[in-house]
Amino acid sequence: MKEILKKLEDRGPLDYEELGKLLKDIDFSLVNYKEFLPELSGSDTYSRSILTMNPIEVLLIHWPPNVSSAVHHHNGFWGYVAVLKGTCENVEYLFNEGVIRESQSMKSVRGGIMPEPDGILHKILNPSGEEELVTAHFYYPALENLEDMVIYDLENERIGTLNDKAGSASWTEPVEHFKNIQENAFKFVSEI
Ligand SMILES: [Fe+2]
Repeated sequence: MKEILKKLEDRGPLDYEELGKLLKDIDFSLVNYKEFLPELSGSDTYSRSILTMNPIEVLLIHWPPNVSSAVHHHNGFWGYVAVLKGTCENVEYLFNEGVIRESQSMKSVRGGIMPEPDGILHKILNPSGEEELVTAHFYYPALENLEDMVIYDLENERIGTLNDKAGSASWTEPVEHFKNIQENAFKFVSEI
């Protein structure tokens, strides 16, 4: 992991394609990440550890079985997620004329890389009921905090905008960690 951080620092700012090329040349099945791995704090939420903010934000996320991120919108930031251990699923959605639908879903195993382009509406999860998942995330620009991150609650059809007090992009955050929550914000159509 240290070599990857050094490589990114040496290269300086990169655009979306350049970062993708650089990451594709790394064999993530061989990356030694143990010393950076955040400990799990419970069985229902993931743990994050930020390794660097400059020039690209790099963080490790440790996921217990069956844990998912909130559905969130990449508004002005982009990146990639690499799978270091376990299986990772990326579920993408389309928001059109007030209706959210699942558009595609893909799984990656150790060594795989999944893109998170600007504008994507998605969630990332550990689909395994037994195995832990470890992922490395590369984002630009680095997010100083989660202010203005927009998350979607598909079950209750709500949209929440977080403020700078939010510790995670998640609906488990207390109400004072939101700038606003919009009820009846869309219709969710599950086609599966
Ligand atoms: Fe994302």
